[in-house]
Amino acid sequence: MPPEISDLGIALNALKEFRKYSISSHHERFIFPFLCGSYFTYRKVDVERITSLAKAISKDPTYLDVGCGYGDFLEKIIQYLPNAEGIEKSADIFFKLGRYKPDYIKIGDAYNGIEKKYDLIFVGWMEPGVDYRDKIAASTDVIITTLDQGLSLAVEFEGHGFEKIASWITPSWDDINTEITNKYYSKISNRTIEFLKQLRGAHNLWYVYSKPKYKDIIKETLRKCLKYEGQREIHTYEFEDVLDDAGYGYLESIKTSNEEYLLWNIDFS
Ligand SMILES: C[S@@+](CC[C@H](N)C(=O)[O-])C[C@H]1O[C@@H](n2cnc3c(N)ncnc32)[C@H](O)[C@@H]1O
Repeated sequence: MPPEISDLGIALNALKEFRKYSISSHHERFIFPFLCGSYFTYRKVDVERITSLAKAISKDPTYLDVGCGYGDFLEKIIQYLPNAEGIEKSADIFFKLGRYKPDYIKIGDAYNGIEKKYDLIFVGWMEPGVDYRDKIAASTDVIITTLDQGLSLAVEFEGHGFEKIASWITPSWDDINTEITNKYYSKISNRTIEFLKQLRGAHNLWYVYSKPKYKDIIKETLRKCLKYEGQREIHTYEFEDVLDDAGYGYLESIKTSNEEYLLWNIDFS
């Protein structure tokens, strides 16, 4: 998971092998999240929510993605916020695999501090044990994090003068991986697949934190986003078909043994 360079080489070989029998080019981002996608699953509505928040906070927003990896999510954000940047600790993930590093991704360690203040900082799925909340809290008034339920808890900012304003739930890459691997790349019977589907859960949590002065504008903006999403045919990325097919639709209900929730629905704290 945290990318050891030797692991990445192994993963790249496995990806090449997978491509020989893969039945959809959109599956790989959920099976090889670090190389081809992201650890948290997102739709275009997530990108639009986050960029709408940045624009509500500032006319010309500055945005930083901390630990952005190859920048799969960041490149979507840049379509809306052309000045968005990322910081990534490992230069090796680019150079040793011969991958292009765009200028908007700076190589640096967030533990050494973040150079300037940003209108919004995003931390997408940090591995367990990594904790640079002090540095992030010192560099912005608005933080959006995603974390895997029960895993990367070091992205909760209540103790740093921030309030949790809103949250929503999406699947993690692993939730989708399980569904598509069972359905398309295993010999499990359809009956068993249907049974297993009932056990599905979504494990990626999105939290929006801010200093008190931004609370109202954040709530107002997210309420507008939800309303807008409900009033039109929502914009989507092609790979979102995989989410629909796997039973993780927009506003789809997920029932587990102890709770029920609607995916992507925004909960205001
Ligand atoms: C689990 S990956 C997640 C990548 C991407 N955010 C995603 O969700 O798919 C975590 C990334 O954070 C980077 N990282 C870990 N510690 C870091 C630090 N102190 N400063 C900057 N990046 C860091 C790792 O090198 C890795 O690329």
